[in-house]
Amino acid sequence: MRKPLIAGNWKMNTNRADAVALAKGVAAGAGELDGVDLLVCPPAVYLSVVGEALAGSAVALGAQNAYFEDNGAYTGETSMAMLADIGAEYVILGHSERRHVLGETDSDVSKKARKALELGIAPIVCVGELLEEREAGRTGEVIKSQFVGSLDGVTEADIPSVVIAYEPVWAIGTGKVATPEQAEEVHADLRRLLAERYTGEIAGAVRILYGGSMKPGNAAELLSQPNVDGGLIGGASLKADDFLAIAKAG
Ligand code: 13P
Repeated sequence: MRKPLIAGNWKMNTNRADAVALAKGVAAGAGELDGVDLLVCPPAVYLSVVGEALAGSAVALGAQNAYFEDNGAYTGETSMAMLADIGAEYVILGHSERRHVLGETDSDVSKKARKALELGIAPIVCVGELLEEREAGRTGEVIKSQFVGSLDGVTEADIPSVVIAYEPVWAIGTGKVATPEQAEEVHADLRRLLAERYTGEIAGAVRILYGGSMKPGNAAELLSQPNVDGGLIGGASLKADDFLAIAKAG
């Protein structure tokens, strides 16, 4: 069965001291948690110090983005090879803030996903609809198009390493959480898309996380849905106690 993954996306928050303290807080509580994978994704400049703070713990290290080229004249970018070099095991790709604020496309996401997989880094590929798309009844169509485009070229051999995150844009940082039924409906659709594109067995093995205002108070209900295999947590991942409480609910 699928082991739940509780992932913290720290976004552009913390400073060096806070990042280390938060990582140590999560690592200290992780020992009590069985049957759940924990991951923190700090800002790129703090990946190394957070990695050191997590050493010897069960908490994995991930990045929030990286570029698909190996090296060269790409000012400001970080390569997947650099992530692998400092011990990152996951990379979040196609987060809605990157899609909608920074103009990232499905094609960019698929190139990054293929490069991450080539280097043994597990991509967390995010999909999610805008409020106007949901209100226009277009959620299924938007999710399908992002799924197909973002996983373009990802093979049957590689897809089991991929994590998918459903993050309805209207629920991110708004305090407005999807109902467990709304989340489950999209997660079940995503699993059907995986089965159609790959195999039923593969679809049953890939983890699909929910993200969007997940908190200790609403996590248990969301995580109890049959196709919700964990959470991608923003705001509540910035407090070790809240993040660990969500993991306990899983
Ligand atoms: P919040 O939990 O702050 O809504 O953010 C969710 C998110 O975007 C995680 O990637």
